[in-house]
Amino acid sequence: MSNVTSRDTYGVVAKCFHWIIVALLAAQYAVGWLMPHIGRNTKNEGLVSWHLSIGAAILFVILLRLLWRLAFPVTPDGTLAPWEHNASRVTHALLYTLVVVMTVLGWAAANYQGWDIRLFGVVSLPAIAPTGASWAHTAGDVHNFLQWVLLAFIGLHVVGAAYHYFIKRDQLMQRMLP
Ligand code: HEM
Ligand code: HEM
Repeated sequence: MSNVTSRDTYGVVAKCFHWIIVALLAAQYAVGWLMPHIGRNTKNEGLVSWHLSIGAAILFVILLRLLWRLAFPVTPDGTLAPWEHNASRVTHALLYTLVVVMTVLGWAAANYQGWDIRLFGVVSLPAIAPTGASWAHTAGDVHNFLQWVLLAFIGLHVVGAAYHYFIKRDQLMQRMLP
């Protein structure tokens, strides 16, 4: 197999991972906001069930994406000022971290309810928290809070991309476009 990710820009696989995660996160936020408030008697059905399935898919894809990134690292855009370089490195690291942390907290919060999580509707994920564990209930609260932190960093990231595209008018955006 050839190395499809060249050293100085994102390859087709890295681009696919990026935009698949964007689509999954958009769906996950929409479902998370539209689904009923989770209480003691909430059932794992309808939008709630969709939230767990999309969440499991996000965890699966983000882990593959991180492995791909380790195997095929991409050099940062050479035209960036040092502060831009540092800001984007920190933002990207936080985006990866927050997505992984969000999925693990959501997983524990689902286990708190005693719900089964299925990857692509087939593979049942093991419980990482016992049903009713108080720390898993807290995990749900932290999950509900971190959604805003993740959203803030996504906003910062998108503003950064728009700044390069519309104001600096450099080629940075093209690195991630098809
Ligand atoms: C990055 C991925 C995820 C995002 C962006 C996300 C987003 C959200 C949002 C917006 C809510 C509604 C919070 C509210 O009512 O204010 C929520 C709640 C919830 N999510 Fe996620 N979620 C993600 C991953 C997951 C995963 C992987 C699972 C489980 C497999 C999960 C399980 C839950 C549960 C159980 C709740 C209810 C928590 C509670 O109220 O105690 N989420 N999530
Ligand atoms: C419309 C929305 C978005 C646009 C326009 C966009 C644009 C971009 C661009 C242009 C890059 C390349 C930056 C560079 O060359 O250094 C990039 C990288 C990245 N984006 Fe986004 N992005 C968007 C949404 C998101 C979302 C929602 C996430 C959440 C996880 C995300 C996570 C990342 C990460 C982690 C990288 C770094 C990739 C790496 O080097 O491993 N992006 N994005």
